[in-house]
Amino acid sequence: MNKKLLAAGAALVLGAGFSLSALAQAKPDVMVKQRQAAMTLQGKYFGPLAGMAQGKVPFNANVVARNAEFLGALSQMPWDGFDASTSGVKSAALPAIWNDMAKFKSAQELLQGNVAKLVAASKGGNEGAIKAAIGDVGKSCGGCHDNFREKKQ
Ligand code: HEC
Repeated sequence: MNKKLLAAGAALVLGAGFSLSALAQAKPDVMVKQRQAAMTLQGKYFGPLAGMAQGKVPFNANVVARNAEFLGALSQMPWDGFDASTSGVKSAALPAIWNDMAKFKSAQELLQGNVAKLVAASKGGNEGAIKAAIGDVGKSCGGCHDNFREKKQ
């Protein structure tokens, strides 16, 4: 297939208004929607695990293993959406992000490290260790929200 056809195919798949170059440099309001969507999905797949760790949801090792794998991918997704170009878009992201990118990045790495530990624990089959690892993931979500996300009123 020649390059023009490939590009046309990509444009069809992505829908009107998207070109590959537009994808590489999404508009600020689109980037905000995308990073919020990635956060929402982290909430979707982490929520039941938090419930299990708290004893509110019956423990299910298979669900933990599956959701931990999903979180492995999802916990890498939101961050390129926190581009300085989005600082003017209304969202719950606090200016602290743009003022201390290094601290924001280390909060991302803390989450990713704890998710990796949860993935490993979920393969080990020890319920206590798995619940402890879930707790650590939860702390790394909350720790970042405390510093970098607007509090809900
Ligand atoms: C490194 C910082 C950081 C970490 C770690 C983090 N978040 Fe967030 N999260 C944010 C910020 C900042 C926002 C606000 C984003 C916005 O409004 O654009 C947010 C927003 C959200 C939202 C609201 C999304 C929406 O539609 O507005 C949910 C749900 C969420 N996070 C869940 C999670 C979960 C679950 C985890 C852990 C698995 C997590 N987050 C880890 C920084 C973080």
